[in-house]
Amino acid sequence: MKLEILPVNYPKAKIDDESKLAFGRQFTDRMFIMEFDRKLGWHSARIQPYGPLSLDPAATVLHYSQEIFEGLKAFRRVDGSLALFRPRDNISRFNRSATRMCMPEVDEDFLLDSLLELIRLEADWVPKSEGTSLYIRPTMIASEAFLGVRPADQYLCYIILSPVGAYYSGGIAPVKIWISDNYVRAAHGGTGEAKTGGNYAASLMAAKEAAEKGYDQVLWLDASEKKYVEEVGSMNMFFLYDDKIITSPLKGTVLHGITRRSALKLLQNMGYQIEERALSVDEVMEGAANGRLKEAFGTGTAVVISPVGSFCYKDHCIQLGDGEPGELTMKLYKELTDIQYGRQPDKYGWITAV
Ligand code: COI
Repeated sequence: MKLEILPVNYPKAKIDDESKLAFGRQFTDRMFIMEFDRKLGWHSARIQPYGPLSLDPAATVLHYSQEIFEGLKAFRRVDGSLALFRPRDNISRFNRSATRMCMPEVDEDFLLDSLLELIRLEADWVPKSEGTSLYIRPTMIASEAFLGVRPADQYLCYIILSPVGAYYSGGIAPVKIWISDNYVRAAHGGTGEAKTGGNYAASLMAAKEAAEKGYDQVLWLDASEKKYVEEVGSMNMFFLYDDKIITSPLKGTVLHGITRRSALKLLQNMGYQIEERALSVDEVMEGAANGRLKEAFGTGTAVVISPVGSFCYKDHCIQLGDGEPGELTMKLYKELTDIQYGRQPDKYGWITAV
Protein backbone atom coordinates (compact mmCIF):
# COMPACT_ATOMS: atom_id res chain seq x y z
CA MET A 1 0.00 0.00 0.00
CA LYS A 2 1.19 3.52 -0.77
CA LEU A 3 1.52 6.07 2.02
CA GLU A 4 0.31 9.51 0.96
CA ILE A 5 1.72 12.54 2.76
CA LEU A 6 -0.49 15.62 2.97
CA PRO A 7 0.88 19.08 3.80
CA VAL A 8 0.40 20.85 7.12
CA ASN A 9 -0.50 24.47 6.52
CA TYR A 10 -0.91 25.70 10.09
CA PRO A 11 1.73 24.18 12.39
CA LYS A 12 1.06 24.63 16.12
CA ALA A 13 3.30 26.37 18.62
CA LYS A 14 5.50 23.84 20.42
CA ILE A 15 5.99 23.77 24.18
CA ASP A 16 8.96 25.97 25.07
CA ASP A 17 9.12 24.99 28.75
CA GLU A 18 9.53 21.20 28.80
CA SER A 19 9.30 21.11 32.59
CA LYS A 20 5.59 21.85 32.12
CA LEU A 21 4.97 18.75 29.96
CA ALA A 22 2.27 16.56 31.49
CA PHE A 23 0.92 13.30 30.09
CA GLY A 24 -1.23 13.25 26.95
CA ARG A 25 -2.51 16.82 26.88
CA GLN A 26 -0.86 18.16 23.72
CA PHE A 27 -0.71 16.62 20.26
CA THR A 28 1.59 17.17 17.31
CA ASP A 29 0.80 18.62 13.87
CA ARG A 30 0.28 15.37 11.99
CA MET A 31 -1.38 11.97 12.38
CA PHE A 32 -1.31 8.71 10.46
CA ILE A 33 -4.63 7.22 9.37
CA MET A 34 -5.83 4.35 7.17
CA GLU A 35 -9.25 2.89 6.45
CA PHE A 36 -10.59 -0.64 6.20
CA ASP A 37 -13.60 -2.22 4.61
CA ARG A 38 -14.31 -5.86 3.81
CA LYS A 39 -14.01 -5.33 0.04
CA LEU A 40 -10.83 -3.23 -0.15
CA GLY A 41 -9.05 -4.35 3.01
CA TRP A 42 -6.80 -1.61 4.48
CA HIS A 43 -6.54 1.34 2.10
CA SER A 44 -6.15 5.13 1.82
CA ALA A 45 -3.15 5.25 4.17
CA ARG A 46 -1.98 8.80 4.72
CA ILE A 47 -0.19 11.18 7.02
CA GLN A 48 -2.42 14.21 7.35
CA PRO A 49 -2.81 17.26 9.58
CA TYR A 50 -3.87 16.28 13.13
CA GLY A 51 -7.56 16.99 13.60
CA PRO A 52 -11.01 15.70 14.52
CA LEU A 53 -12.34 12.51 12.93
CA SER A 54 -15.64 12.54 11.14
CA LEU A 55 -17.72 9.65 12.52
CA ASP A 56 -21.32 8.69 11.95
CA PRO A 57 -23.19 8.88 15.30
CA ALA A 58 -24.14 5.23 14.70
CA ALA A 59 -20.47 4.14 14.40
CA THR A 60 -20.15 0.82 16.19
CA VAL A 61 -17.28 1.98 18.42
CA LEU A 62 -19.54 4.61 20.00
CA HIS A 63 -22.10 2.00 21.04
CA TYR A 64 -20.34 -1.29 21.64
CA SER A 65 -16.73 -0.19 22.24
CA GLN A 66 -15.09 -2.21 19.49
CA GLU A 67 -11.75 -0.45 19.97
CA ILE A 68 -8.10 -1.22 20.67
CA PHE A 69 -5.02 0.87 21.29
CA GLU A 70 -1.30 0.75 22.04
CA GLY A 71 1.20 2.94 23.83
CA LEU A 72 4.88 3.24 22.93
CA LYS A 73 7.48 5.98 23.00
CA ALA A 74 10.07 7.75 20.84
CA PHE A 75 13.11 9.07 22.72
CA ARG A 76 15.62 11.77 21.91
CA ARG A 77 18.88 10.06 22.77
CA VAL A 78 22.01 11.62 24.22
CA ASP A 79 23.71 11.66 20.78
CA GLY A 80 20.73 13.65 19.39
CA SER A 81 19.29 10.74 17.39
CA LEU A 82 15.69 9.55 17.73
CA ALA A 83 14.74 5.98 18.59
CA LEU A 84 11.68 3.86 19.33
CA PHE A 85 11.62 1.30 22.13
CA ARG A 86 10.48 -2.21 21.10
CA PRO A 87 7.96 -0.98 18.48
CA ARG A 88 7.53 -4.42 16.92
CA ASP A 89 6.37 -5.83 20.26
CA ASN A 90 3.68 -3.15 20.47
CA ILE A 91 2.53 -3.69 16.92
CA SER A 92 2.26 -7.44 17.35
CA ARG A 93 0.31 -6.94 20.61
CA PHE A 94 -1.95 -4.53 18.65
CA ASN A 95 -2.71 -7.39 16.27
CA ARG A 96 -3.37 -9.82 19.14
CA SER A 97 -5.81 -7.31 20.64
CA ALA A 98 -7.40 -6.90 17.19
CA THR A 99 -7.97 -10.64 16.92
CA ARG A 100 -9.55 -10.78 20.41
CA MET A 101 -11.90 -7.92 19.54
CA CYS A 102 -12.83 -9.38 16.08
CA MET A 103 -11.06 -6.53 14.28
CA PRO A 104 -8.84 -6.80 11.19
CA GLU A 105 -5.11 -7.25 11.69
CA VAL A 106 -2.70 -4.69 10.25
CA ASP A 107 0.40 -5.36 8.15
CA GLU A 108 3.05 -5.01 10.88
CA ASP A 109 5.87 -3.87 8.56
CA PHE A 110 3.65 -1.29 6.89
CA LEU A 111 2.45 0.13 10.21
CA LEU A 112 6.01 0.34 11.55
CA ASP A 113 7.31 2.02 8.36
CA SER A 114 4.41 4.50 8.46
CA LEU A 115 5.09 5.24 12.12
CA LEU A 116 8.79 5.84 11.41
CA GLU A 117 7.85 8.23 8.59
CA LEU A 118 5.44 10.06 10.90
CA ILE A 119 8.10 10.42 13.60
CA ARG A 120 10.63 11.72 11.05
CA LEU A 121 8.14 14.39 9.95
CA GLU A 122 7.37 15.29 13.58
CA ALA A 123 10.98 15.06 14.81
CA ASP A 124 10.91 18.61 16.21
CA TRP A 125 8.15 17.53 18.59
CA VAL A 126 10.32 14.98 20.40
CA PRO A 127 11.26 16.79 23.63
CA LYS A 128 14.87 17.01 24.77
CA SER A 129 14.83 17.10 28.57
CA GLU A 130 15.57 14.19 30.89
CA GLY A 131 12.48 12.06 31.50
CA THR A 132 10.52 13.40 28.53
CA SER A 133 9.58 11.55 25.34
CA LEU A 134 7.09 11.48 22.48
CA TYR A 135 4.23 9.16 23.45
CA ILE A 136 2.75 7.26 20.49
CA ARG A 137 -0.86 6.09 20.54
CA PRO A 138 -1.84 3.67 17.73
CA THR A 139 -5.62 3.18 17.82
CA MET A 140 -8.21 1.16 15.89
CA ILE A 141 -11.94 1.82 16.01
CA ALA A 142 -15.01 0.26 14.37
CA SER A 143 -16.42 3.00 12.15
CA GLU A 144 -19.31 1.27 10.41
CA ALA A 145 -22.71 2.97 10.96
CA PHE A 146 -24.73 0.01 12.22
CA LEU A 147 -26.56 -0.70 15.45
CA GLY A 148 -26.66 -4.51 15.32
CA VAL A 149 -24.26 -6.32 17.62
CA ARG A 150 -21.67 -8.02 15.39
CA PRO A 151 -18.10 -7.23 14.29
CA ALA A 152 -18.18 -4.09 12.14
CA ASP A 153 -17.34 -4.14 8.43
CA GLN A 154 -15.46 -0.82 8.47
CA TYR A 155 -12.57 0.42 10.65
CA LEU A 156 -10.16 3.30 11.05
CA CYS A 157 -6.62 2.80 12.28
CA TYR A 158 -4.74 5.92 13.30
CA ILE A 159 -1.65 7.02 15.19
CA ILE A 160 -1.40 10.21 17.19
CA LEU A 161 1.64 11.62 19.00
CA SER A 162 1.94 13.53 22.23
CA PRO A 163 5.09 15.04 23.80
CA VAL A 164 5.03 13.92 27.43
CA GLY A 165 6.67 14.31 30.81
CA ALA A 166 5.95 12.08 33.81
CA TYR A 167 2.66 10.15 33.86
CA TYR A 168 1.98 10.86 37.53
CA SER A 169 1.99 14.48 38.57
CA GLY A 170 4.44 13.63 41.37
CA GLY A 171 7.07 12.40 38.84
CA ILE A 172 9.03 9.43 40.25
CA ALA A 173 7.59 9.99 43.76
CA PRO A 174 6.11 6.79 45.28
CA VAL A 175 2.40 6.27 44.49
CA LYS A 176 -0.32 5.31 46.95
CA ILE A 177 -2.19 2.20 45.88
CA TRP A 178 -5.72 1.24 46.85
CA ILE A 179 -6.42 -2.52 46.64
CA SER A 180 -10.03 -2.96 45.58
CA ASP A 181 -12.02 -5.67 47.40
CA ASN A 182 -15.20 -4.65 45.63
CA TYR A 183 -14.74 -3.97 41.92
CA VAL A 184 -12.90 -6.28 39.52
CA ARG A 185 -11.15 -5.48 36.24
CA ALA A 186 -10.91 -8.76 34.34
CA ALA A 187 -12.27 -12.28 34.61
CA HIS A 188 -11.03 -15.46 32.94
CA GLY A 189 -12.42 -15.63 29.42
CA GLY A 190 -12.88 -11.84 29.33
CA THR A 191 -10.85 -9.18 27.56
CA GLY A 192 -8.32 -8.45 30.34
CA GLU A 193 -5.21 -9.10 28.30
CA ALA A 194 -6.43 -7.17 25.25
CA LYS A 195 -5.59 -3.49 25.15
CA THR A 196 -9.15 -2.35 24.62
CA GLY A 197 -10.78 0.82 25.90
CA GLY A 198 -13.60 -0.99 27.71
CA ASN A 199 -11.16 -2.42 30.27
CA TYR A 200 -10.18 1.12 31.18
CA ALA A 201 -13.77 2.45 31.24
CA ALA A 202 -14.65 -0.38 33.63
CA SER A 203 -11.87 0.72 35.98
CA LEU A 204 -13.01 4.32 36.38
CA MET A 205 -15.47 3.90 39.25
CA ALA A 206 -12.91 2.20 41.49
CA ALA A 207 -10.28 4.78 40.49
CA LYS A 208 -12.68 7.59 41.37
CA GLU A 209 -13.39 6.10 44.79
CA ALA A 210 -9.67 5.54 45.39
CA ALA A 211 -8.93 9.16 44.41
CA GLU A 212 -11.61 10.40 46.83
CA LYS A 213 -9.74 8.54 49.59
CA GLY A 214 -6.44 10.11 48.50
CA TYR A 215 -5.06 7.16 46.52
CA ASP A 216 -3.36 7.41 43.12
CA GLN A 217 -4.23 4.04 41.57
CA VAL A 218 -6.22 0.84 42.07
CA LEU A 219 -4.58 -2.57 42.34
CA TRP A 220 -6.97 -5.21 41.03
CA LEU A 221 -7.50 -8.62 42.59
CA ASP A 222 -8.44 -11.72 40.59
CA ALA A 223 -12.15 -11.85 39.81
CA SER A 224 -12.89 -15.40 40.99
CA GLU A 225 -11.50 -15.41 44.54
CA LYS A 226 -10.64 -11.73 45.07
CA LYS A 227 -7.51 -13.04 46.72
CA TYR A 228 -4.55 -12.56 44.38
CA VAL A 229 -3.10 -9.27 43.16
CA GLU A 230 -3.13 -8.85 39.38
CA GLU A 231 -2.31 -5.43 37.92
CA VAL A 232 -2.89 -1.71 38.17
CA GLY A 233 -4.68 -0.60 34.97
CA SER A 234 -1.78 1.56 33.82
CA MET A 235 0.99 -0.79 35.03
CA ASN A 236 2.03 -4.37 35.80
CA MET A 237 3.12 -4.92 39.39
CA PHE A 238 6.40 -6.27 40.78
CA PHE A 239 7.23 -7.11 44.41
CA LEU A 240 10.67 -7.54 46.00
CA TYR A 241 9.75 -10.12 48.60
CA ASP A 242 12.57 -11.46 50.77
CA ASP A 243 15.20 -11.44 48.05
CA LYS A 244 13.00 -12.66 45.21
CA ILE A 245 11.01 -10.82 42.60
CA ILE A 246 7.36 -11.79 42.35
CA THR A 247 5.01 -10.72 39.56
CA SER A 248 1.59 -12.03 38.46
CA PRO A 249 1.63 -14.70 35.77
CA LEU A 250 0.08 -13.95 32.36
CA LYS A 251 -2.97 -16.18 32.32
CA GLY A 252 -5.51 -14.16 30.39
CA THR A 253 -6.47 -11.42 32.84
CA VAL A 254 -3.24 -9.44 32.99
CA LEU A 255 -1.85 -7.27 30.19
CA HIS A 256 1.30 -8.62 28.50
CA GLY A 257 3.30 -5.52 29.34
CA ILE A 258 6.31 -4.76 27.17
CA THR A 259 7.96 -2.81 29.99
CA ARG A 260 7.08 -5.81 32.21
CA ARG A 261 8.95 -8.10 29.80
CA SER A 262 11.92 -5.70 29.68
CA ALA A 263 12.02 -5.39 33.48
CA LEU A 264 12.01 -9.18 33.86
CA LYS A 265 15.01 -9.45 31.56
CA LEU A 266 16.95 -6.70 33.36
CA LEU A 267 16.14 -8.15 36.80
CA GLN A 268 17.20 -11.63 35.66
CA ASN A 269 20.49 -10.18 34.46
CA MET A 270 20.98 -8.48 37.82
CA GLY A 271 20.84 -11.99 39.28
CA TYR A 272 17.41 -11.92 40.90
CA GLN A 273 15.37 -15.07 41.24
CA ILE A 274 12.00 -14.43 39.64
CA GLU A 275 8.68 -16.01 40.48
CA GLU A 276 5.80 -15.42 38.07
CA ARG A 277 3.15 -16.61 40.46
CA ALA A 278 -0.10 -15.66 42.13
CA LEU A 279 0.67 -13.46 45.15
CA SER A 280 -2.13 -13.06 47.66
CA VAL A 281 -3.20 -9.73 49.01
CA ASP A 282 -2.61 -11.15 52.52
CA GLU A 283 1.03 -11.82 51.62
CA VAL A 284 1.35 -8.23 50.39
CA MET A 285 -0.15 -6.69 53.52
CA GLU A 286 1.69 -9.03 55.93
CA GLY A 287 4.94 -8.63 54.04
CA ALA A 288 4.60 -4.82 54.16
CA ALA A 289 3.95 -5.03 57.92
CA ASN A 290 6.77 -7.44 58.81
CA GLY A 291 9.37 -6.06 56.39
CA ARG A 292 9.58 -9.11 54.12
CA LEU A 293 8.05 -7.05 51.32
CA LYS A 294 10.93 -4.69 50.73
CA GLU A 295 9.85 -2.87 47.60
CA ALA A 296 6.98 -2.76 45.14
CA PHE A 297 6.86 -1.01 41.81
CA GLY A 298 4.78 -0.82 38.67
CA THR A 299 5.98 -1.01 35.08
CA GLY A 300 4.37 0.43 31.95
CA THR A 301 5.18 2.47 28.88
CA ALA A 302 3.55 5.59 30.26
CA VAL A 303 4.68 5.22 33.88
CA VAL A 304 8.09 3.63 33.05
CA ILE A 305 9.01 2.27 36.53
CA SER A 306 6.85 3.65 39.30
CA PRO A 307 7.68 3.07 42.98
CA VAL A 308 4.82 2.21 45.34
CA GLY A 309 4.84 4.05 48.67
CA SER A 310 1.83 2.50 50.38
CA PHE A 311 -0.99 -0.02 50.05
CA CYS A 312 -4.46 0.27 51.48
CA TYR A 313 -6.80 -2.72 51.71
CA LYS A 314 -10.12 -2.77 53.55
CA ASP A 315 -9.23 0.46 55.34
CA HIS A 316 -5.95 -1.01 56.58
CA CYS A 317 -3.10 1.12 55.21
CA ILE A 318 0.59 0.32 55.31
CA GLN A 319 3.56 2.36 54.21
CA LEU A 320 6.37 0.53 52.43
CA GLY A 321 9.86 1.34 53.65
CA ASP A 322 10.62 4.96 54.50
CA GLY A 323 8.37 6.53 51.87
CA GLU A 324 11.28 7.06 49.44
CA PRO A 325 11.62 5.12 46.15
CA GLY A 326 13.36 1.77 46.84
CA GLU A 327 16.96 1.10 45.82
CA LEU A 328 16.13 -1.67 43.37
CA THR A 329 13.26 0.34 41.88
CA MET A 330 15.61 3.23 41.14
CA LYS A 331 18.33 0.91 39.81
CA LEU A 332 15.86 -0.67 37.41
CA TYR A 333 14.53 2.74 36.36
CA LYS A 334 18.09 3.82 35.60
CA GLU A 335 19.01 0.67 33.66
CA LEU A 336 15.89 0.85 31.52
CA THR A 337 16.04 4.57 30.82
CA ASP A 338 19.81 4.40 30.15
CA ILE A 339 19.03 2.03 27.27
CA GLN A 340 16.08 4.12 26.05
CA TYR A 341 18.05 7.40 26.06
CA GLY A 342 21.22 5.80 24.68
CA ARG A 343 23.37 6.31 27.79
CA GLN A 344 24.14 2.57 27.72
CA PRO A 345 24.47 0.24 24.73
CA ASP A 346 21.36 -1.69 23.74
CA LYS A 347 22.60 -5.26 24.08
CA TYR A 348 19.06 -6.67 23.87
CA GLY A 349 18.06 -5.33 20.43
CA TRP A 350 15.22 -3.25 21.92
CA ILE A 351 15.98 -0.01 20.10
CA THR A 352 14.80 0.88 16.57
CA ALA A 353 16.55 3.93 15.10
CA VAL A 354 14.16 6.43 13.50
C1 COI B 1 0.73 2.81 28.46
O1 COI B 1 1.49 2.65 29.42
O2 COI B 1 1.14 3.14 27.36
C2 COI B 1 -0.70 2.63 28.60
O3 COI B 1 -1.32 2.34 27.64
C3 COI B 1 -1.35 2.92 29.87
C4 COI B 1 -2.30 4.04 29.66
C5 COI B 1 -3.65 3.64 30.04
C6 COI B 1 -1.84 5.32 30.16
